[in-house]
Amino acid sequence: MIQWFPGHMNKAKREVSEKLKFIDIVFELVDARLPFSSRNPLLKQIIQNKPQVMILNKADLADSKETQKWLNYYQAQGITAVALNAKTDSAKKKILAAAEDALKAKRERDAKRGIKPRAIRAMVIGIPNVGKSTLLNRLVGKKIAQTGNKPGVTKGQQWLKVGNQLELLDTPGILWPKFEDAEVAKKLAVTGAIKDQLLHLDDLALYTLEFLTAFYPQALVERYGFTATELQLPSVEQLLFITAKRGFKDDYLRGAELLLNELRNGKLGALTFDHVEDLV
Ligand code: G4P
Repeated sequence: MIQWFPGHMNKAKREVSEKLKFIDIVFELVDARLPFSSRNPLLKQIIQNKPQVMILNKADLADSKETQKWLNYYQAQGITAVALNAKTDSAKKKILAAAEDALKAKRERDAKRGIKPRAIRAMVIGIPNVGKSTLLNRLVGKKIAQTGNKPGVTKGQQWLKVGNQLELLDTPGILWPKFEDAEVAKKLAVTGAIKDQLLHLDDLALYTLEFLTAFYPQALVERYGFTATELQLPSVEQLLFITAKRGFKDDYLRGAELLLNELRNGKLGALTFDHVEDLV
């Protein structure tokens, strides 16, 4: 995990800004479980008026009802948005259609001026761990991009061809999340977007239990045998219940670790942590 210091942030911002002149469109990748919290706070300012497609990746891990609400929300703001599972979906068709849609006005202007359409040039941008490398690999159909979070790994400008209609910059733009917001930082940590231990395991587990009790109580019922009684307990006691149930006696840190691992591995079902209703 990158430690984002102001120097790193400026460098990341500069790297993205410098590449904007080479591209027609930005593919902003976010985690579908966090379609708001996993955005970069300054993206709009950095990309200015560049056309943009928002890709809600890891849609397999997110609550599909909520994903649909987020797609509608961004579309209503004039941002073309698609949901994707970069690990399994054949992403090419979906992304091409979205890019064509986002570039429609420009294509029409060009056509009027007699400019023939050429391959769309795009750059994938997002915070660490949203699946940028996975998506590039899938689009190009082979293992090319570096997986991992290394800002500043710059080579020459390399284009990856995706058929005849799309060319992608080979290195994704890596930006930082909104971790100055405590609630957002917790959500990022719970889903594994922030991997290092910036936050305490037990705090995260308690936060998770409060969240699940409020929004996905059924997950607690099915996975850990909660009844109406446990659902009404304070989160500390809920954590102790899970800990004991899994045979860890009172070692609640093991219980906390188990809960977070199971959540991250999708064992608690498809969950979305950001709600459109909180923004409008
Ligand atoms: P990044 O370049 O944006 O930093 O992300 P990267 O592609 O490295 O993906 C981060 C993690 O997310 C990887 O898991 C990757 O497999 C997983 N991932 C990417 N897209 C999807 C998706 O649509 N759905 C799901 N479920 N997972 C996705 P990892 O645990 O770091 O590695 P591994 O499990 O692939 O070995």
